[in-house]
Amino acid sequence: MQDSRNQNPAVVMDRASARIIDNASFTIPRGSITALVGPSGSGKTTLMRMIVGTQANVRGEVRVLGQRAGHPDLRSRVTYATQAASVFEDLTVRENLDYIRNIYRLPSTRRDEILERLELQNHANTICGRLSGGQRSRVSLAIALLPHPELVVLDEPTVGLDPLLRRSLWELFHELVADGASLIVSSHILDEADECEHVLFIDEGRVKHATRNEVLASTGADSMEDAFLAVMGR
Ligand SMILES: Nc1ncnc2c1ncn2[C@@H]1O[C@H](COP(=O)(O)OP(=O)(O)OP(=O)(O)O)[C@@H](O)[C@H]1O
Ligand SMILES: [Mg+2]
Repeated sequence: MQDSRNQNPAVVMDRASARIIDNASFTIPRGSITALVGPSGSGKTTLMRMIVGTQANVRGEVRVLGQRAGHPDLRSRVTYATQAASVFEDLTVRENLDYIRNIYRLPSTRRDEILERLELQNHANTICGRLSGGQRSRVSLAIALLPHPELVVLDEPTVGLDPLLRRSLWELFHELVADGASLIVSSHILDEADECEHVLFIDEGRVKHATRNEVLASTGADSMEDAFLAVMGR
């Protein structure tokens, strides 16, 4: 992700089993939400790990906010909520947030603001091991949002959430963009890609980037679900 005038060199990621990312080259402009969609096992999580700089065996350079992916200067500027919620199970929600908040030296008011924004204030004193899957994933998201990141990478953040909570999360994502952040959000729910200005399709190693409008225009589809099926040639 960088200035859209710059052309990225192609990037490859091989696993023993297969080439997961094959000569990917794309630029996502700042200040937008990008949906990352593709079949299960296509490489969404792998690509996200490449963007946050935690993926091994990457050939070529991934640049994020003008730096090499994973550069220490990006530590609080780029945050990542993993597909499986990563929280300390034996700490309360508040303690989980405080642990990370202290690393970033943020005031307690920031913790309370995030708790409220994610509708977690009533669970602040609950041990995370006793939360439901959806509640736990919101704690993981809360941790990712704490330091006011410029880029937030979210791996399937709405899995296990009811439609109301999903709607409220997408409202939050749009608010974050209005505040100047950029988001990359993977999802299996193609309706969610309809919320996004940009789309990254991934399948059999190929990564295609386009704006949502370009995808709809080039496929003649009315929805991202139909466009996805057309783009993937199924
Ligand atoms: N740690 C690993 N070691 C070896 N192969 C892996 C590892 N993690 C993932 N893979 C393989 O790499 C490919 C891409 O996996 P990845 O997790 O990126 O897919 P995904 O699109 O995120 O899938 P899902 O939608 O199910 O989360 C898959 O074939 C998977 O089996
Ligand atoms: Mg995944």
